[in-house]
Amino acid sequence: MGFIFISRTRSILLVLLLSSFSFTSTEAYDALDPNGNITIKWDIMSWTPDGYVAVVTMYNFQQYRHIQAPGWTLGWTWAKKEVIWSMVGSQTTEQGDCSKYKGNIPHCCKKDPTVVDLLPGTPYNQQIANCCKGGVINSWAQDPGNAASSFQISVGAAGTTNKTVKVPKNFTLRAPGPGYTCGPAKIVKPSRFVTADLRRVTQALMTWNITCTYSQFLSQKTPTCCVSLSSFYNDTIVNCPTCTCGCQNNITQPGSCVEGNSPYLQSAIASHSSKNSYTPLVQCTSHMCPIRVHWHVKLNYKDYWRVKISITNFNYRQNYTQWNLVVQHPNLDNLTKIFSFNYKSLMPYASINDTAMLWGVKFYNDLLMQAGPLGNVQSEFLFRKDKETFTFDKGWAFPRRIYFNGDNCVMPPPDAYPWLPNASTRPVISLLCLIMPFLASLAFMLANAW
Ligand SMILES: *[C@@H]1O[C@H](CO)[C@@H](O)[C@H](O)[C@H]1NC(C)=O
Ligand SMILES: *[C@@H]1O[C@H](CO)[C@@H](O)[C@H](O)[C@H]1NC(C)=O
Ligand SMILES: *[C@@H]1O[C@H](CO)[C@@H](O)[C@H](O)[C@H]1NC(C)=O
Ligand SMILES: *[C@@H]1O[C@H](CO)[C@@H](O)[C@H](O)[C@H]1NC(C)=O
Ligand SMILES: *[C@@H]1O[C@H](CO)[C@@H](O)[C@H](O)[C@H]1NC(C)=O
Ligand SMILES: *[C@@H]1O[C@H](CO)[C@@H](O)[C@H](O)[C@H]1NC(C)=O
Ligand SMILES: *[C@@H]1O[C@H](CO)[C@@H](O)[C@H](O)[C@H]1NC(C)=O
Ligand SMILES: *[C@@H]1O[C@H](CO)[C@@H](O)[C@H](O)[C@H]1NC(C)=O
Ligand SMILES: *[C@@H]1O[C@H](CO)[C@@H](O)[C@H](O)[C@H]1NC(C)=O
Repeated sequence: MGFIFISRTRSILLVLLLSSFSFTSTEAYDALDPNGNITIKWDIMSWTPDGYVAVVTMYNFQQYRHIQAPGWTLGWTWAKKEVIWSMVGSQTTEQGDCSKYKGNIPHCCKKDPTVVDLLPGTPYNQQIANCCKGGVINSWAQDPGNAASSFQISVGAAGTTNKTVKVPKNFTLRAPGPGYTCGPAKIVKPSRFVTADLRRVTQALMTWNITCTYSQFLSQKTPTCCVSLSSFYNDTIVNCPTCTCGCQNNITQPGSCVEGNSPYLQSAIASHSSKNSYTPLVQCTSHMCPIRVHWHVKLNYKDYWRVKISITNFNYRQNYTQWNLVVQHPNLDNLTKIFSFNYKSLMPYASINDTAMLWGVKFYNDLLMQAGPLGNVQSEFLFRKDKETFTFDKGWAFPRRIYFNGDNCVMPPPDAYPWLPNASTRPVISLLCLIMPFLASLAFMLANAW
């Protein structure tokens, strides 16, 4: 995805056209959050007669991608014949075969343990700091204070010096579905810990780090979100592209969606919950997406203009907690006011701050309820016009990109955008559409050349 490198003064349209390609990206690299990763830090705090006690902490360094319920699952493969004697703040999902142990039985004897967080409400004597949130980790921009998750692990049949300990291999992070790829554990400088009164510094006996990065391509084959558009200057509502996230197909996939007013709605939800709990059960729409973001250009004042944005949940199986939206629009560098959402400018490249992250106000609209009458949240933006760039022409007033919970939302094709009455731009846009593949490859070449 090279287009972010194109300077703003080059054609807005180019960016607009290319944005419709962004879902085809197969790279883990995210231009809007180039350093985004989850780092797992494994600190050995003490040696034991047959191994060590470590504190494992996952830091979510991603600006806008969080892990929501039912939470993370962490796995690895031991390098030797290690066992887990005990854990605090998390547990393995399976104990495995501990039959060769007499007396004390380990917590887990599997070669490839799978660890999950404990639930809120865990007794205090089984907790450590940053544990027990049901595997939920917030994003760095939204809530840095809750962007980490920790547990303590007591490992046996391991080395007992920094020369004999072997780092575990093949880390896997599920959140809870696929999407993350973890690199190898790297031994780093031991972590240092400052006491609360700042008067003493201690350090881990040995530390290793694992970095995991996200790729939407690995996460799901189809998109999960789409964008629809409308404006005060044109009656047309440009709906999400048909079949963005799937097609209504009664023959090959009966029951793939439910009608909102169906008398069988409740029983459909109930019978669906017994199946795979991560697959969405969506309301029947032409786009079949669980999430739709609608951008309405609402008003035009002399010095300002106003946009209304609404997010609708079509998924009967999911309440989105701590949802967030990333929006890219050239006027976001001069946002005057935003109503009833939190706002933070994201500046992946210092010179371009046209990207912002939005999320709900705590206890007011930070929960996007399951499909139904309450399944939507909305807000309005007030932008100050920059006389040099502002125009309602050529779809300029519409967003370049939108992400919901870190996943790209599919935009309608640019030639479908509502246009100004009497606008003479249509032939130009259509022409550009024809040469779109050429422009895409050009942008790619430029990006590589720089
Ligand atoms: C992970 O993210 C942190 C914080 O943004 C960054 O300092 C670090 O370099 C990243 N690590 C990798 C391997 O990208
Ligand atoms: C192991 O500990 C020794 C000192 O006890 C230190 O010099 C060495 O760098 C450590 N090695 C690793 C891999 O941490
Ligand atoms: C790593 O883990 C994955 C999934 O658990 C497994 O399919 C793969 O075989 C493992 N690779 C090694 C080298 O253990
Ligand atoms: C290891 O991870 C910790 C926590 O994220 C970070 O502070 C530290 O800089 C990392 N070390 C290296 C060498 O990446
Ligand atoms: C699917 O079936 C339902 C009821 O069985 C019907 O109302 C609906 O029109 C059908 N949809 C299509 C696309 O055939
Ligand atoms: C969403 O939250 C409401 C209210 O807390 C609850 O009644 C409903 O069962 C939840 N839905 C799902 C799919 O978790
Ligand atoms: C954009 O960046 C400039 C500084 O580079 C900053 O003053 C301004 O507040 C930023 N705009 C927004 C909307 O955050
Ligand atoms: C924002 O608007 C003000 C007033 O029109 C203008 O002076 C300023 O340069 C604008 N900032 C940017 C980054 O365009
Ligand atoms: C509104 O925009 C659509 C394109 O989405 C166009 O077909 C229609 O003619 C426009 N309406 C007016 C009144 O210009």
